[in-house]
Amino acid sequence: MKFKSNKIEEQVADNGLLHRRIFLSNAGALLGAGASGILSGSIAHAQGAQSRPPWMRVPGKGVGGYGARARFEDHVQRSAGSAPGTTGAGASRTPLEHLEGIITPSSLHFERHHSGIPEIDPNEHRLLIHGLVERPLFFDMNSLTRYPMVSKIHFIECSGNSRVSGLIPEPVQQSCGVLHGLVSCSEWTGVPLSILLDEVGVDPDAGWILAEGSDSAAMSRSVPMSKAMDDAMIAIYQNGEKLRPDNGYPIRLFLPGYEGNTSVKWLRRIKVTAEPTMTKDETSKYTDLLDDGTSLMFTFPMEVKSVITSPSPGLDLEGPGLYEISGIAWSGGGRISKVEVSADGGLSWGEAELSAPVLDRALTRFRMAWQWNGAPAVIMSRAIDETGAIQPTRDSIIAAKGMKFAYHYNGIQAWGIDANGRAVNTYA
Ligand code: CO
Repeated sequence: MKFKSNKIEEQVADNGLLHRRIFLSNAGALLGAGASGILSGSIAHAQGAQSRPPWMRVPGKGVGGYGARARFEDHVQRSAGSAPGTTGAGASRTPLEHLEGIITPSSLHFERHHSGIPEIDPNEHRLLIHGLVERPLFFDMNSLTRYPMVSKIHFIECSGNSRVSGLIPEPVQQSCGVLHGLVSCSEWTGVPLSILLDEVGVDPDAGWILAEGSDSAAMSRSVPMSKAMDDAMIAIYQNGEKLRPDNGYPIRLFLPGYEGNTSVKWLRRIKVTAEPTMTKDETSKYTDLLDDGTSLMFTFPMEVKSVITSPSPGLDLEGPGLYEISGIAWSGGGRISKVEVSADGGLSWGEAELSAPVLDRALTRFRMAWQWNGAPAVIMSRAIDETGAIQPTRDSIIAAKGMKFAYHYNGIQAWGIDANGRAVNTYA
């Protein structure tokens, strides 16, 4: 959204960054007086009678059983990619640059499948909990829904997210969603796993669980018992309705803040174990290869991260003027405590406004006002979470970890804005 204002005040950092209250308390400045005024360029002065559009001349469509969005929004799509030679394996990414607020529509939640989406009959599906337990039990879907449920708003992020934004020698020119869209945020509702583990009676020697999916890859991950007993959930609902098949219908494990792959979809089995199982999905994949040839394993929490979604590639500026910068921040470490924005390539930083609600391990929306003077600029954001963790620069990550690793990249994203207002991925 572009605004026009002649006021350069409320400056919070160099190159035109302004406190967002300029939008709220200086409405007069925005609306202006007289002809030079308001939001000009996009809004014309009202003159004469308003004509009646065609859709006012006929009765509208009737009610429907399940809603659909306006056809004019059909261009807002997940960007998909499949691994060559495989069936159903691959990922699709949330078009972050087309969304606002913090909730991802279920239809646009990112996907990552290792052998496609199974079509599971909920009447046939069972969850087995066994291993180091007193009473192995099967749970069918009816019995699961009789346990007390909780609802929580959390992001889920694939640990491979953002790799293409910063770990390629030359910056990849794609949209914000293609570069960072393996993160989404929903309200999840389900049964705390600790309740079910209490039902089966966990052996005191148990230190881990194995969670296994019901897809044809039997995708499975080991999870520490401490996490399973803390805030793990058997999720049944997403954004108020049953999970979508691409998000694990009829049930998935949900582990707040952990790398997405561990929130095993189409969950069919939890085995209580003493040690991690070392499945193919946590040895050949989802390990972090370092420059010295060793790998980090079981790196679970997702790091603090942020990205400016507007402006961003494809959402170009319309010319010099006052804009609202908007973006998202999140951390597996807890709440976002601060987001800073720079419009001069990181030389100066101003604190952005965090839009309520600011929730634990959820996407957090930040906003800032920017008076763009029309000159080329580099804009970027960095997030800080309640543990004090600060989103690092790309350079510092590569200095510490090299460029061979493929997971947990959380470097600061810089967008270069050229004199035409076009935004590109840039390594600043
Ligand atoms: Co990891």
